[in-house]
Amino acid sequence: MAELLLPSSTTIALLADKLKQGMLVAFPTETVYGLGADATNRQAVAAIYQAKGRPTFNPLIAHYPSLEAAQADAHFSPQALALAHAFWPGPLTLVLPKKPGSRVCGLATAGLDTIAVRVPAHPVALELLRMCTTPIVAPSANPSGFLSPVTAQQVEKGLGTKINWILDGGKTTQGLESTIVDVTTDIPTILRHGPITHAILEALVGTVHTADTHTSTDTKTPKSPGMLLHHYAPRCPLRLTIDNPKPGEALLAFGPGLLPLGFDTILNLSPTGDLVEAAANLFDYLHQLEDSGATGIAVMPIPQIGLGAAIHDKLSRAQLFSTK
Ligand code: TXA
Ligand code: MG
Repeated sequence: MAELLLPSSTTIALLADKLKQGMLVAFPTETVYGLGADATNRQAVAAIYQAKGRPTFNPLIAHYPSLEAAQADAHFSPQALALAHAFWPGPLTLVLPKKPGSRVCGLATAGLDTIAVRVPAHPVALELLRMCTTPIVAPSANPSGFLSPVTAQQVEKGLGTKINWILDGGKTTQGLESTIVDVTTDIPTILRHGPITHAILEALVGTVHTADTHTSTDTKTPKSPGMLLHHYAPRCPLRLTIDNPKPGEALLAFGPGLLPLGFDTILNLSPTGDLVEAAANLFDYLHQLEDSGATGIAVMPIPQIGLGAAIHDKLSRAQLFSTK
């Protein structure tokens, strides 16, 4: 059973410490409760996906106590700055180019070169975020496929056996997830509708496109055709077979077994066969292999149980969309 703690400076400091130690903490925002983890800690981020049972690694929103803090990890165009100044703290998430030196790990952004960032308008969330020195990623604190929670009791009902700590800030005020706007193109696009509406956004920045979205969360299908295009695609061919190594191909290995012969460059996602560790390493290792000068990436079989299914899903898409 998870412990529900009422917010005070003592409990918030305690839970900020838990986050720093790599544990998961559910906390209130003005929209819905989030399941928080240290965005710089790959194992902690992998634990989020495991606790939620997400069918695939859907990128997470990084939460910050201020615009200035978010600027360390994301590049803000003048338009993005205008949106942040107008609506933060508040229920608006901005998708921006991820800075090369960003502290947010590759698993949290699902290997993308963009990052979703937001400053929530909730005093408890803001105090918690201020006490953590790193960004905190937080999807809605519900098991995948269930409704987003608006009370601590709903978090407990859905995730009580998977997490230890819930900060109970009462019922959230908005009850609807933040509006997500992609600001990586000249004309911003709404990826998910929410409290900050199309009309409100257009009043500030002019034309805003709308992807064909709906507001339900965690469905197995992508939220918009636009989102379907946003997935990690390696710059070299990736194959899920290792039968016949091609010259110059690198190996993404898994598990304690004997490694296949014929590969010069090898990274093992988890030498002990631990799927949480493998998930934690997935995108960082793919990026390292891409950068190694390999002509391609061959991937060893990974059991499709638990997080293995999510790993397999991302790798199959990477295979489909890698540059041939
Ligand atoms: O109100 C909210 O936004 C809540 C609270 C806790 O902040 N969080 C939330 O997170 O709803 P989540 O993980 O349930 O939804 C985040 C959505 C996902 O649909 C994901 O695909 C999208 O944000 N997203 C995250 N990073 C993205 C990126 N780089 N590009 C496009 N979409 C992104
Ligand atoms: Mg959600």
